[in-house]
Amino acid sequence: MSYRIVISIFLLLSSWGAAGQSPEISYTRDIQPIFTEKCVACHACYDSACQLNLGSGEGAARGATTVPVYDGERSVAAAPTRLFHDAFGKPAWQQKGFYSVLDAQGSQAALMARMLELGHQTPLQPNAKLPQDIVLGLNRENTCAMPAEFDGYASAHPKEGMPLAVTGLTDQQYQTLQRWLASGAPIDEQGLVPSAKEALQVVQWENLLNAPVPGKAWWGAGCSSIGFSLISTSRMTSRGTSSNGYVPEPRPGNLSI
Ligand code: HEC
Repeated sequence: MSYRIVISIFLLLSSWGAAGQSPEISYTRDIQPIFTEKCVACHACYDSACQLNLGSGEGAARGATTVPVYDGERSVAAAPTRLFHDAFGKPAWQQKGFYSVLDAQGSQAALMARMLELGHQTPLQPNAKLPQDIVLGLNRENTCAMPAEFDGYASAHPKEGMPLAVTGLTDQQYQTLQRWLASGAPIDEQGLVPSAKEALQVVQWENLLNAPVPGKAWWGAGCSSIGFSLISTSRMTSRGTSSNGYVPEPRPGNLSI
């Protein structure tokens, strides 16, 4: 038998083998882009719906809480729940009242899987007016159903599965998310670690922005937190680099007040 025939038989057999297995889903490659396209409009800021922040694997793993970020009636300081700042890892967040939306509950699928299924069962018509019973905006009172409360939510809000009030996921996106959730929702995302150069630049920016400006104490504090948010946002969205590939150097002369 010529070696070409042997190689052809080998390739044929290995392609049969591969066709039988479904390719593995990667959080970074397959899942985060769907969250970024279809969910982060409502699930990425500090005050996300149910504090479920799908802008990163850390936020997805943290899950949701029934406690709102802003409570105008409170009279004492509330403990902040900033992702990447106030706790690290799922157990630490669960101690702060968060619950998983990714874990299956016994024979029940994960809360996210059921919210997505509800959305998939009641698709909205593209470019048509939203049904009156979907309340959005400031008047909306979120339920933030915990996993055990999902059935009650679904019967009271049958048209309010996820993604909420939009035409939703393509069939392929839906299948990918459901397959990932059914396989235990593994998250392969690596935490971002600044390079030595970036770490130095963060220190330089913080020193610059925290430097006292006589008579303008608020300026440094305000700009420092804005600068921090800009740096974190730039790091989260572009993996640590600005559009030209580098975190910009602090230049005092370029900042005017
Ligand atoms: C237009 C805004 C909007 C979009 C887009 C959206 N959501 Fe939501 N999401 C909400 C709101 C509001 C709630 C709270 C609903 C309630 O409890 O009344 C919510 C709740 C949830 C919950 C349940 C949280 C809990 O504690 O019960 C999950 C899980 C969820 N969303 C996942 C997603 C996913 C995944 C996507 C993208 C595929 C998505 N959402 C897109 C607004 C949105």
